Amino acid sequence: MLLKTIILIGGPMKGTRFRPLSLETPKPLFPVAGFPIIHHHIEAAAKVEGNKEVILIGFFQPNEALNKFINQAQLQFKVQIRYLQEYTALGTAGGIYHFRDQILAGKPDYFFVMNADVCGDFPLQEMLDFHRSKPSGTFCTILGTEATRQQSLTYGCIVENKATHESKSLAGQIMHYVEKPETFISTTINCGIYLCSPAIFSPLEIEFKKNLEQNYNCDQDHQRVGYDYTTAPAKEVIRMEQDIFVPLASSGKLYVYQTERFWSQIKSAGAAIYANRHYLKLYRKTHPERLAKNGAGKPQIIGDVFIHPSAQVNETAVLGPNVTIGKNCMLGDGVRVRDSVVLDGAVLQDHCCILDSIIGWNSTIGDWTRIEGTPNDPNPNKPFAKMEAISTFTFDGKLNPSITVIGSDVQVPSEVIILNSIVLPNKELSGCYKNQIIL
Ligand code: GTP
Repeated sequence: MLLKTIILIGGPMKGTRFRPLSLETPKPLFPVAGFPIIHHHIEAAAKVEGNKEVILIGFFQPNEALNKFINQAQLQFKVQIRYLQEYTALGTAGGIYHFRDQILAGKPDYFFVMNADVCGDFPLQEMLDFHRSKPSGTFCTILGTEATRQQSLTYGCIVENKATHESKSLAGQIMHYVEKPETFISTTINCGIYLCSPAIFSPLEIEFKKNLEQNYNCDQDHQRVGYDYTTAPAKEVIRMEQDIFVPLASSGKLYVYQTERFWSQIKSAGAAIYANRHYLKLYRKTHPERLAKNGAGKPQIIGDVFIHPSAQVNETAVLGPNVTIGKNCMLGDGVRVRDSVVLDGAVLQDHCCILDSIIGWNSTIGDWTRIEGTPNDPNPNKPFAKMEAISTFTFDGKLNPSITVIGSDVQVPSEVIILNSIVLPNKELSGCYKNQIIL
């Protein structure tokens, strides 16, 4: 059997809620639990037997960081990895249709589609087994999970056909799909991970042709009224959720495979802390060697902690739980870090304390300084409680309490407190800040 995996990595206009961290690095390459977000996707895909190729589709200009990542990941996972660049944002299915010849080359039996902005313990093999047990002609299996009623409104909501529940080969058939409904539809939500049969290209083609036709008719109207084409979306845009899943939902050719494993979107920096915690926890099962251990001459480790081998951490530091320390970081005497990500090259001077925060690349935190955020994760003890979609600002324009994010190359002096704040790159702070965005 031949399989492929497509990862939708978006482009420079995406990931805005992830700023300032996405100013330095494309969000899909942001490190979580010591590795770029999409490294975790590729690792999961490479484990499925028969998966020979991973295709990244996005509209970033190819860049050194992406090329380097691809080269390293190819060597590590022994799969071919390619980046295909859309000439403009084509939507979550437009790129797949545009590059159909490359996807279908070699005649894959099935292909996975993975949104880059999610994290999880992806049950890809289980999805494959499930999909193969369905009638031939099935277009797609969507990975689904349970959310609360309130949370479900910000996701794609799936209604399963209960009448088919008893039949093994039809169980999980989708009857109804609504993207971000205004009123409650279902607590089963779309995880942004799909397994498609090549037959999916026929509804994609129909949608593509319909778009072109409609746009042709619109063009003629627009030409009459002098329409501005520079701001119009590309005619080739196809949205997998609204344009494909919604109309196909009642066709009996879409299925949902439900998972109870860890899964979340990674939209905000706060969600990166959540993802970090869960990927570290997953390492207990998948990569115990990546987790730091206690021992003579080593810092004190509490719970799950990842320390890059090149980092220098003083033995009097106390780290954890849920901490990642990046490449070439330096942590001085008595440093305390909990529920945080410290990115490559950061320096934490003696006795500083970092809680629920992200410290940017090459930033320096002065001694006895306290950097603290508020986790916006509703229930850290409930194993797979989903992240709430909390916006940066309250209705009256105040900053919602959030994790603290220190951008890259920021200098924070000694003996100050930075609380629930976001600091943009290249700043030299001179005092204490609370609930502020420091531009
Ligand atoms: P928002 O809540 O508005 O972010 O919507 P969403 O959660 O449905 O996410 P969205 O559809 O914007 O993106 C889902 C995934 O597809 C993300 O990983 C994006 O980076 C990716 N994506 C979105 N639009 C495009 C596109 O035009 N081209 C490509 N290649 N990827 C895209």
